[in-house]
Amino acid sequence: MSIYQATASAPVNIACIKYWGKRDTKLILPTNSSLSVTLDQDHLRSTTTSRADPSFTKDRLWLNGKEEEINEGGRLATCIREMKRLRREVEDKEPNAPKLSTFPVHISSRNNFPTAAGLASSASGFAALVKSLATLYQLPAHPSQLSLIARQGSGSACRSLFGGYVAWEMGSKPDGSDSLAVEVAPQSHWPDLHALICVVSDDKKGTSSTSGMQQTVETSALLQHRIKHVVPERMEAIKKAILAKDFDSFARITMKDSNQFHAVCLDTEPPIFYMNDVSRSIIALIVEYNRVSVANGGGYKAAYTYDAGPNAVIYAPKENLKEIISLIVKYFPQAENFKDPFQLFGTQGVGAGGVVPGFNEAVAKTFPVGSVKSLIHTRVGDGPRVLSAEEGLLGQDGLPK
Ligand code: DP6
Repeated sequence: MSIYQATASAPVNIACIKYWGKRDTKLILPTNSSLSVTLDQDHLRSTTTSRADPSFTKDRLWLNGKEEEINEGGRLATCIREMKRLRREVEDKEPNAPKLSTFPVHISSRNNFPTAAGLASSASGFAALVKSLATLYQLPAHPSQLSLIARQGSGSACRSLFGGYVAWEMGSKPDGSDSLAVEVAPQSHWPDLHALICVVSDDKKGTSSTSGMQQTVETSALLQHRIKHVVPERMEAIKKAILAKDFDSFARITMKDSNQFHAVCLDTEPPIFYMNDVSRSIIALIVEYNRVSVANGGGYKAAYTYDAGPNAVIYAPKENLKEIISLIVKYFPQAENFKDPFQLFGTQGVGAGGVVPGFNEAVAKTFPVGSVKSLIHTRVGDGPRVLSAEEGLLGQDGLPK
């Protein structure tokens, strides 16, 4: 008997123009378009195996080995149902195709980064789920078509169906059929864009994106201004900057949009705070680092951005990463030398850190060890990958390995 199984991995993406607000909470239709950079799966990824088998009794899913409830009408159930619907279309056209759409599925998914790091795993997770089911069902689907389904798992997940530089066009149709991800430029267009993720320790349980953005939609007047008068121009300007590989403009827009996203959070009733003192000090360091560069006749050399939590993501051209890591490590000492995966500091890694000439060291204080728990140096990466049978996460028995 044939085994119907497929495994895929999908990347994390971090937005430069933020998605924050839904006009339809069930279909997950946003109040504004957004744009992100896909990060390299060599460093951060979700891997998912899906198997269809008539002997299974129901659809089941395990996340990092732990079974998750698939609630009826919930986001997981919606994605699985939509993928089965696309499979049925294939079966209707090819009467000889096995009726996989009628079989229950077992799905096992793993992230290669700790959930405790506070990095959003829902984007890579839903993208890997949709890609593995599309492969299992042998769907001839384009990534934009798959993005329509991943979007219904988690809005930002739709952007993880592409590598490189990706826009989520908000669309206008009530059924959501034009609210999808499109590639602005592939990874190969501008491969030297790197990212440094500063994992900031956070004990508080924060407001989730899903509920936070709904509170903002209901109470913030500033959000309405952002939707109507800010994001449309910014989307055009950042696409232009990406196509021209103009880092200076890319950085200015990215930082302004992160700031405005956190401003609409503050404008929410009751106010939502995602950044903390560590986050704000990292902003001060990047602002000063850029000031020195501009004072010396150069352009911006780094851009910070923050999602719904205190972690910083710093985008910069590859050539600046050594200076940026040295700067962060100086103010946020690490328990052990930081061993950069790109071998920027030799085999010993970087310990003490330092600043560039002309840098005003008083813009931030030095924090205790552990304030920035860890650093992840990565770069722009490719879209979902189909993996071999050997890399599958389900055993012979159809349960997680
Ligand atoms: C701040 O995609 O996690 O990261 O659609 O409710 O699942 P849901 O929300 P989610 O929100 C992401 C918000 C953000 C900005 C962004 O990624 O664009």
